[in-house]
Amino acid sequence: MKLRRCAVLYLEPREELDIDWAALFAGTSTLAASTRWLALAPHLDREIEVDAADLAALGAVGASVWTERDTVLRHHDAAVVDRLLGHGLLLAQAQQEQEQEQASQQEQSGAGPLDILRARDETLRAQHWRPLAALAHTFSRWRDVRSDTGMEAPSFDELLARHGNPPPPVQQVTGSAPAVPLPAAEPGVLDAVLLRRYTGRNYDTGASLPLAVAARLLQRTFGAQELRHVGPHANVLKKTSPSGGGLHPVEAFVLVQRVAGLAPGLYHYHPLDNTLLPLRAATPEQAAALAMQMVADQHWLADAALQVVMVGRVERSFWKYRNHQKAYRAMSLDAGHLSQTFYLLAAEAGLPAFITAAINDIDIENMLGLDHLRHAVIAVCGCGVATTGAREMVELRYGETGLGQASA
Ligand SMILES: Cc1cc2nc3c(=O)[nH]c(=O)nc-3n(C[C@H](O)[C@H](O)[C@H](O)COP(=O)(O)O)c2cc1C
Repeated sequence: MKLRRCAVLYLEPREELDIDWAALFAGTSTLAASTRWLALAPHLDREIEVDAADLAALGAVGASVWTERDTVLRHHDAAVVDRLLGHGLLLAQAQQEQEQEQASQQEQSGAGPLDILRARDETLRAQHWRPLAALAHTFSRWRDVRSDTGMEAPSFDELLARHGNPPPPVQQVTGSAPAVPLPAAEPGVLDAVLLRRYTGRNYDTGASLPLAVAARLLQRTFGAQELRHVGPHANVLKKTSPSGGGLHPVEAFVLVQRVAGLAPGLYHYHPLDNTLLPLRAATPEQAAALAMQMVADQHWLADAALQVVMVGRVERSFWKYRNHQKAYRAMSLDAGHLSQTFYLLAAEAGLPAFITAAINDIDIENMLGLDHLRHAVIAVCGCGVATTGAREMVELRYGETGLGQASA
């Protein structure tokens, strides 16, 4: 059997502080610090505690070239090697091509644990992730963060009591000459929406979005305004937001709660066809529960009539930006641009919108059947009719459409 180390592995000496009760009662230092080594590997999606013998073996086996197991065993215990294989930090090569074929067949029909671990590592290798980006992405995802596990945001008053005053809203930069005064901003056509944009936290659960409003929001934010051919079999989309490399890797998965004419549930939005592909039907109650789970119990956002999960297609972006330091950042920025366009279209319709990165990414991946190594769930935005405040603006633009009325 031949072995190699997984493609991406970081080792963290994590310090944990605890009360030293014996010291406390003896009247001396009460903080006890202990350190343990954790292996962080994005293809495994969980932290693994390792010891000094594991560290030595991991340092001795390369991540590119396969090494005979017997060679490794000359300097390292079989028990250590087997443990690391079991964890997926070391990987076993399928011995022959024939076995490799069997392994890929097994993946559909009950692959062995070592085959599955190797396949996860190969998926990671195939995406061209920058290792630190893969690590940050994998280990910043949430599973089942709910209000009772700390999602309820502290008020500003609580923050002030806890942390004192924040740094001032503007930094004082020392220039080389006095600041140059600029003329006041002249009125412009964008002002009507720019100045009305706001984050809504009071969505009306009795009001539906008209289909035309939802369709415009989706098409003008996530839809292709143009298709450009850049090669015989290569196309790029032109959207209303910019995109790193023009690749537009971020796509929209939609959770409908209340849109007139659309059944509640999960959909994928097709940016060229301007269609919503149903993925999972839901009752209104189920859709509301999915929304709450997605936004980690932020009930002030979950009531929005329509939510959009922005998902970065890693393979599309990293096709160009292979192992690139800035690729993950660029993909996140793409989602930020799309979100602002979404906000402005909502403002145009007289509606509040929201964006949140405080999401249960892992639960969303499970809902949508996504692999975090191939699809980066970045943020959720949404929109709906406000219970108070924004109503006049809604009527300004959609006065005749019945926006704000309870859904049929
Ligand atoms: C990246 C990002 C993440 C955000 N996350 C949350 C969030 O988790 N919950 C929330 O209620 N608002 C969230 N917001 C909204 C901000 O709180 C909001 O933009 C801010 O309070 C300013 O209000 P305005 O958008 O109405 O100008 C987020 C905004 C951004 C840009």
